[in-house]
Amino acid sequence: MKSLSDTLLKRKTIRKYSAKKVDDDLLNDLLARGCRASTTGNMQVYSIIITRDDAKKRELAPFHFNQKMITEAPVVLTFCADFNRFSKWCLENKAEPGYDNFLSFFTAAIDALLVAQTVCIAAESEGLGICYLGTTTYTADKITESLKLPKGVVPVTTVTLGWPAEDPEQPDRLPLEAIIHKEVYHDYSEQDLKKYYSQKEEREDSRNFIKENNKETLAQVFTDVRYRKSDNVHFSGVLIKVLTDQGFMNQ
Ligand SMILES: Cc1cc2nc3c(=O)[nH]c(=O)nc-3n(C[C@H](O)[C@H](O)[C@H](O)COP(=O)(O)O)c2cc1C
Repeated sequence: MKSLSDTLLKRKTIRKYSAKKVDDDLLNDLLARGCRASTTGNMQVYSIIITRDDAKKRELAPFHFNQKMITEAPVVLTFCADFNRFSKWCLENKAEPGYDNFLSFFTAAIDALLVAQTVCIAAESEGLGICYLGTTTYTADKITESLKLPKGVVPVTTVTLGWPAEDPEQPDRLPLEAIIHKEVYHDYSEQDLKKYYSQKEEREDSRNFIKENNKETLAQVFTDVRYRKSDNVHFSGVLIKVLTDQGFMNQ
């Protein structure tokens, strides 16, 4: 097992996995460690769906835009915001649940993300590789149907997990000073932005990215190709409908 510091500082996303099985006992152990994460009021308003079955992975693949990790990883975990279980327990115990609102969704989503990230750290500390799939929030309607999620449950993120079959270069990060604000927020001047983003912009992979996409700047690769407004608006609509259908938008 790696030291915690190495686990955190040397980690990188892994998108290629070997055929080696992830043992059930190990997976359960990782999930148990993940579930020690902080959770709002100790309510544990999340659920984790484990997908190991190849047919189910193939069914999920298009909802993740056919990213190959879904079918190639031995384990796929879908982390869900879940007020279903807790609300049912309230009703069984003469208590009236008041969780059919957006705040409660957000609370449960925070819980789900905290448990997801803790499972990821536990997995990475054992030498496993992980990849988050943000596609879960884009196609939450399809994933909700496929995983038979009842009212009160919304998929928040997906993680693919397996033994690494690649050793990619570690991606860059912004310098810490770009992220940290002392006491109050200090807004960014043009000069600050130049300073903080120049390292990223000058990387060879960034330059290639700009060229491949026929763009002038790295920022344009994000705004015009990877995370476009039209997609964001469309998928926001899908997500708001899921939240409505799953009973989180009553107030
Ligand atoms: C919420 C979230 C969604 C992500 N979605 C995807 C995804 O759909 N496909 C993918 O290949 N990587 C995905 N990633 C991984 C990021 O691309 C990756 O973390 C980032 O490029 C930094 O690389 P690193 O994790 O190796 O440091 C996602 C990460 C997060 C946190």
